[in-house]
This record gives sequence, C-alpha cells and structure tokens, in this order.
Amino acid sequence: MGYYRGMPNAQITGWGKCLPPAVLTNDDLATVMDTSDEWIVERTGIRERRISHVDTSELGLVAAKRALAAAGRDADDIGLLILCSASPDLLIPNTASRLQERLGNKQAAAFDLNSGCTGFVYGLKVANDHIGNYPDSPVLVVGAERLTWYLDWTQRDTAVLFGDGAGAAVFEPAEPGQGVIETHLGCEAAAGKALMVADFGTVMNRFGPDPTRFELMFDGREIFRQAVKGMALACQTVLAKAELEVADIDLVIPHQANERIIDALTNRLGMDDARVFKNIAQYGNTSSATIPIGLTEALEQGRVQPGATILMVAFGAGLTWGAAIMRWGDRTEALSTCIAELPPSNRTGPGLIAEAIEFFRNAPN
Ligand code: ACO
Repeated sequence: MGYYRGMPNAQITGWGKCLPPAVLTNDDLATVMDTSDEWIVERTGIRERRISHVDTSELGLVAAKRALAAAGRDADDIGLLILCSASPDLLIPNTASRLQERLGNKQAAAFDLNSGCTGFVYGLKVANDHIGNYPDSPVLVVGAERLTWYLDWTQRDTAVLFGDGAGAAVFEPAEPGQGVIETHLGCEAAAGKALMVADFGTVMNRFGPDPTRFELMFDGREIFRQAVKGMALACQTVLAKAELEVADIDLVIPHQANERIIDALTNRLGMDDARVFKNIAQYGNTSSATIPIGLTEALEQGRVQPGATILMVAFGAGLTWGAAIMRWGDRTEALSTCIAELPPSNRTGPGLIAEAIEFFRNAPN
C-alpha cells in the first residue's frame, strides 16, 4: 500500500462541476409520457434532472476551469487531458482536443475515453499511472455528458433515467501514503448487449432511408442485476488489494444510476447509509460525470475530512466496472474559485426537449 513500485500516487488537488440550469422534473415528464413522479421516485430515487442547452465540451470546459482554479493551476500546467464521455461533441477530432483548445492549453496530450458510466474511474487509473511515471505533468480528468441528446422521449423506461452535467478533477503527486491507493477495473463484454446504441457509428447505413435514426437499447433488469454484482465484486477486490476492510472506508461515492442499485450494493457490502454519497434525486444518471460531480459536492458539503479514505465505484456500458480507493490529503478547501459560467439561457427543461418529442412522435417506427 502507499507507493506504486516506488513511484508517487496521484492526489486530487482540484475539483469542479457544471450542471446546466434547465431542470426537467418527473412531473414535467408525466405531461409527455405515461409515467408518474411516484413511479420514478419509488423505482429510481430520481426527482429531477438537468437538460443542457450547450454541447458536452462546454459543460466540461466550465467544470475543468473550476477544477483548475481549485488546484491553483493554469490550464497550461496540464500535461495530459482525458475527456471521459459517451456523448462527445465530435468523433473526429476527439472532443478532448476541442476542450484543450478552449482551455487555452497548448501542449497537453489529449484523448477521449469511452467506458460508459465507468469513464471517470478508468480516467483516474490512467491519471494515477501517468503521475507515477511523470510526476511533473499534472493530469486533468473531465467526465462530461450530454446523454439526453440520445434519448427517445417516447420510451419511458430509458427517458426518465438520464441527465446532463460535468465534473472534473486535477491530479498531481501525493504525499507518501496518500492519493490513489488501489484501483480495480474490468469489463464483462459478453453482457454488453444489455446496454447499447447498436446503430450509431460506422455500423450505420449512411445511405439508408433515415441515417439519423438510432436507438438506445436497454435491458433494465439485466443491467440492474449486473451492476449490483459487478460493483460489489469490484469493491471487494479493490479493498482486498489495498488490504482494507469496509470499516476503513469513510465515504463511498458510487455511480448514480438508480438509488435502489446503490442501496443494494451498500447493503451487500455492509455499509451504513451515513457513509454513502447520493445526489441522484437532483441529477439522475449523468454517466461518467456522476463521480466527479459527487466528489465535488461531497467536498462542498464538508463530507470529506483531511486524511479520509474514499471508495469510488462505477458500472456502465461495455459492461464495464471499476473501483478506486484514495486517501485524501490535508486540503479539503479549494485554493481559489473560478467565475466561469455557461452561456446564459432562459430555456426551460420542457422547452429544450420539445423538438425531440415532436421528432419521435412523428417518426415512423
Ligand atoms: N413509468 C411508469 N412505468 C414504467 C416506467 C416509467 N418510467 N418504466 C417502466 N415502467 C413499467 C414497465 O413497463 C413495467 O410494466 P409491466 O409490469 O406492466 O410490464 C413496470 O413498470 C415494471 O418494470 P421493470 O422493468 O420491472 O421495473 P424495474 O423496477 O426493474 O425498474 C429500471 C426499471 C428503473 C429501468 C431499472 O431496471 C433500472 O434502473 N435498471 C438499471 C438501469 C440503468 O442503470 N441504466 C443506466 C445505464 S447503466 C448504468 O449506469 C449502470
């Protein structure tokens, strides 16, 4: 435990989030599909979600600027920029490069990382390995998603689950015994069909009747089952690798996909509610952004004490899974704050999805 092969662990020195202002409540959804606030709250724990009026990179940009300010770093200090997203603005060039340009960084390596909702935990592992090898090269990991862009608002089983948002973290070398202590990642590809957009990418028939049609395919019960099993195993494995017990963990920041998944996971681990961070009620599932948003809010709420041992765990399309244990440093306050904001918008959640609803209602099956 402590150092990896004599190399420094990475510590998170800056954190930030960006939630677009437009709120879509369960009651709003109930006006456009056959659902209810009662059903959604009871089955998922979600009460509302945010709908973005800007692209993924813009959400990531604001979260990244806030994280850099919290770390007391300039954009140009960053040597590696990882954008974790399953909803990038562009595929060519990668969206990380767009983010790098907008940040004003001129030299960092930049790449997109798509591991679905597990993206940030994968990014954290890459950041830790990079810092171990290149301690003078800080890493910026951004989880940014505009998942509502994918949604068919006539499909009540998927449309109620997701929201937009971004979170970011700056990684730098930790003091001995602190920072990322252990990680454990994996992917159960055989079960991957349970969650996919099967007809988007080069598999699309570009010359067919309607190349803009694609669908989020989803087996909710299967994902639920796999998520609890996969995240529990990832937690148990990473704890064993770190030679720690559940009792040693001060705070769990789990991926926020469904409150019942979080509760089933923490029951299985024997973890009491007071040590589990949840914000799913306000934001729904923001995929790779859930953990950096959760970490930022946990810090804002004073739930991360100096020296705290934190377990982060996620599960997502692939089906990927991952867990990480880190020991927080002495500083739980941002070094400075950043006034960066999204471009102003007076559009409402229902207003932002109106065009998509119209499209899906009129689209031939
Ligand atoms: N409103 C009202 N009724 C609904 C809705 C809705 N929004 N959605 C489904 N129902 C109905 C179904 O049609 C079904 O009706 P029926 O019994 O007449 O057939 C009934 O509710 C029960 O459906 P189930 O699928 O059994 O409901 P369940 O309790 O499993 O909850 C859910 C469904 C919320 C999708 C759950 O399975 C889930 O959260 N799965 C994981 C999803 C997930 O996490 N996705 C994110 C991507 S992966 C990740 O991030 C981990």
